[in-house]
Amino acid sequence: MSSCLIVRLSLLLSFYTSYALAASHTTKHWPRGASTRFYEFKVQKTYVTKLCNRKEIITINGEYWHKNVLKIEKQVLASGGGPPIADAYLINGHPGPLYNCSSNDVYQIDVVPGKTYLLRIINAALNMEHFFSISNHKMTIVEAGGEYMKPFTVDQLMITPGRRPMSLSMPTSPSAEYDMAMGPYMSAPEYSLSRTSQPLRIFQYTGASLTSVGLPAELPSFNDNLAVKSHLDGLRSLNASDLPLEIDNNLFFTIGLNVEKCHSATPNKSCQGPNGGVFAASMNNITFVKPQVALLQAYYDSIQGHFKENFPGVPMKIYDFVNGAPNNFPNDTNSLNDTRVKVLEYGSRVQLILQDTGTVSTENHPIHLHGYSFYVVGSGTGNYNPLTAKLNLVDPPYLNTIGVSVGGWAALRFTADNPGVWFMHCHLEIHTSWGLSMAFLVKNGKGPLETLPHPPSDLPKC
Ligand SMILES: *[C@@H]1O[C@H](CO)[C@@H](O)[C@H](O)[C@H]1NC(C)=O
Ligand SMILES: *[C@@H]1O[C@H](CO)[C@@H](O)[C@H](O)[C@H]1NC(C)=O
Ligand SMILES: *[C@@H]1O[C@H](CO)[C@@H](O)[C@H](O)[C@H]1NC(C)=O
Ligand SMILES: *[C@@H]1O[C@H](CO)[C@@H](O)[C@H](O)[C@H]1NC(C)=O
Ligand SMILES: *[C@@H]1O[C@H](CO)[C@@H](O)[C@H](O)[C@H]1NC(C)=O
Ligand SMILES: *[C@@H]1O[C@H](CO)[C@@H](O)[C@H](O)[C@H]1NC(C)=O
Repeated sequence: MSSCLIVRLSLLLSFYTSYALAASHTTKHWPRGASTRFYEFKVQKTYVTKLCNRKEIITINGEYWHKNVLKIEKQVLASGGGPPIADAYLINGHPGPLYNCSSNDVYQIDVVPGKTYLLRIINAALNMEHFFSISNHKMTIVEAGGEYMKPFTVDQLMITPGRRPMSLSMPTSPSAEYDMAMGPYMSAPEYSLSRTSQPLRIFQYTGASLTSVGLPAELPSFNDNLAVKSHLDGLRSLNASDLPLEIDNNLFFTIGLNVEKCHSATPNKSCQGPNGGVFAASMNNITFVKPQVALLQAYYDSIQGHFKENFPGVPMKIYDFVNGAPNNFPNDTNSLNDTRVKVLEYGSRVQLILQDTGTVSTENHPIHLHGYSFYVVGSGTGNYNPLTAKLNLVDPPYLNTIGVSVGGWAALRFTADNPGVWFMHCHLEIHTSWGLSMAFLVKNGKGPLETLPHPPSDLPKC
């Protein structure tokens, strides 16, 4: 049963996370107590011809590989090295005219001049954050992570895998087509990416000539950290009335990649990471090892031996997280393999600092917490310093995924009022596979409304 559950989970992560988010994060407060939180996921397979190939695909997607993505994941994990980049990026399943064999594969929306349209933008990609823009149009963000925001107007967006809807204002007298474009955001300084092609779809104004040429949409360069920062800085809650001002639990988690020493007899095959090592990732230097029995089930049924309750609330070593080579790179960039959870009392008010490390390479990590949204009360570059960090305790954005800035930090606050076991992980799927995750175990409070509900009678069994 357990392995079946794990497979189901990884399928959801690979293909349906954004759909899950769309379904599960629309309310500010979770239904508490007796009701359960299960959502239906529709698996839709279709045969398509794209980029000169015909194959069966799942239709919700943002990145496209010619090969089966589960096979790719297996190969990458076996190699110890990094993942290949996608063969194409898609908007609503369409790669757009800049790829081979897809000149007609352009999704087009007809719009009426002068009207305002609501676009819901979801990054359903697996391993990439993405920019999005529309030529000659400004976009006003009105909602993010399922919560309304104070309207904030931008030229381009950065969307972490997750959800970021927005509304869009249109100019009054258009006479042309306008391109929409998405393209990857990759912040690791060592990384270079040629963005030769990007998917496009076209806004076609009624009345525009069908042969008119779309004005190209401009995207920031793939490593434009400033564009990402100004976007995040502009997000503000409409009403942060339940923001915890007092803190019971002050947590500090480092997040980042590791390279484990090669223990393989066939290093050329299995140790293709930097310096002949094996890629891994960790939070507070602990690489999450998937348990044989689901954490929630092990907790609910008191099945011993599948996780420990000693996830550290602060790093075990304090050093210059961003610039320092804590473990004497390249000699020790190891982490500790384990399955640990951090226990929270019901109702405790939590502040969590997420700190990117440069152990292998700094990078913007989109960290997603299940079961909760959180207020992002601060963010910055470099190491978090409580004496100088500026926190917004007035109208911080309420999100469930935060792209922690490259070589920087983010400060989150939430009240632990949803009992259960809740996974927190990097939403770049390969980083989750490498262990950039942990879980909170939130204890029950008093009475049925503050208690983890029973599983539903129709909980699928494997
Ligand atoms: C795309 O087409 C060009 C020009 O015909 C060709 O050189 C290139 O190899 C093709 N790329 C792929 C991925 O098929
Ligand atoms: C903010 O939310 C609180 C609690 O839900 C409510 O009492 C208050 O009126 C809201 N304020 C605004 C400005 O909407
Ligand atoms: C492993 O790779 C190294 C460097 O690429 C090469 O010199 C060596 O011959 C390879 N060893 C085997 C057993 O393939
Ligand atoms: C790694 O260890 C070797 C031998 O122990 C040493 O010569 C080298 O300086 C170390 N590298 C770093 C970056 O500390
Ligand atoms: C992480 O854990 C590994 C294995 O115990 C250890 O070698 C390394 O020094 C630790 N690094 C940090 C930063 O704590
Ligand atoms: C941790 O697990 C990874 C992946 O299975 C493995 O490559 C690595 O050697 C393990 N590290 C230790 C110290 O056992």
